[in-house]
Amino acid sequence: MSKRDFLAIPDFSRNELHALFDLAARMKRGEYREKPLAGKTLGMIFTKSSTRTRVSFEVGAFQLGGHALFLSARDIQLGRGEPIRDTARVLSRYLDGIMIRTFDHADVEELARFATIPVINGLTDLLHPCQILADLLTVREHLGGWEGKAIAWIGDGNNMAHSWINAAGSLGFELRLACPEGYDPDPAILGRNQKLAKITLTRDPGEAAAGAHVVNTDVWASMGQEEEQAVREKAFRGYLVDDALMARAAKEAIFLHCLPAHRGEEVAESVIEGKQSRVWDEAENRLHVQKALMATLMG
Ligand code: CP
Ligand code: NVA
Repeated sequence: MSKRDFLAIPDFSRNELHALFDLAARMKRGEYREKPLAGKTLGMIFTKSSTRTRVSFEVGAFQLGGHALFLSARDIQLGRGEPIRDTARVLSRYLDGIMIRTFDHADVEELARFATIPVINGLTDLLHPCQILADLLTVREHLGGWEGKAIAWIGDGNNMAHSWINAAGSLGFELRLACPEGYDPDPAILGRNQKLAKITLTRDPGEAAAGAHVVNTDVWASMGQEEEQAVREKAFRGYLVDDALMARAAKEAIFLHCLPAHRGEEVAESVIEGKQSRVWDEAENRLHVQKALMATLMG
C-alpha cells in the first residue's frame, strides 16, 4: 500500500474522519493499549515556534511505543538551504513519519511528494488541520457532534479559518465567518467548500455569533505577521470575543481558541476563563487526536 499523508482535512474522507475521532475517543478513555509505533520514529521539523504541537506529538509518539525527534530548522541543513526534496528523501531512509510546521504550504507539499513515509502538516501559513481535528473532537465531546450545529469563526481569515472551512465542507456543518475587510479567507478554499456546506462570510461578528453553538477565534497577527500587529489591531477593532458577543450565541455554546491567546485583544479574559470556555480540553485533545492520526498513518 502506498504511504498516506495528512496535509489538509480533505485528505481524509468523511468516514475516515469519523473513524479517527472514534479512535481518539477510545484512546482518551484509556481503552487502547496497543503500541503501533513500537520501534518507529517520528521526525518533527519546526521552522516556527510551538508549545502544544511539539509536546503533544512527542508525548503521543512515546505513548504509542515510538520515539519523536525534534528537528529545529535552525539546526538541520534545511535551514542552510539544503533542498526540501533532498531532506525528504534522506529522512525517509531513517524515519517512519515526518511532522512539519513551516511557513509556505508548498514546501510541505514538496516534502510529502518526495518523502516515501507519511507527512503530517503541523501548521503552515495556509492550514492548521491537526488543530481542527482537536477542535472537532472537543465539539463532539461537549455538544454531541456538529450535525445541525452552527460554528462561528470571528477574526482573521487565516490558516485556522481555512481548515475550519475545509472541515465544514468535508463534514457538512454550518460555518459562519466574520472577518474584517481585507482579511477574508482564501476565495478558492471558500468557494470549493461553499458547494458542499452552508458557509457564510460577514463583516459583523454579532451576525455570525447569533445562535451559534461554537464561538471560535484566533490571534489577529499569526506567526510571521508580527510586524503587521499595529495595522491589524486597527483593522480588527470590534472583533473581540467578549461576554456581549457570547450572549448572542446559543445558551449551551462553547468557546474555542487554538492558543496561544492574547487576552483583551481577540478574546476577553472573562470569556477564555469563563464557564463556556473549553480551551484546555481543546488543547488536551491535540494529544488524543494526533495519536489516532499517527496510529492510522504510521501504525
Ligand atoms: N495551537 C497550537 O498549534 O499551538 P502551538 O503553536 O503551541 O503548537
Ligand atoms: N493562526 C495562528 C495559529 C497558532 C497556533 C498562527 O499561525 O500563528
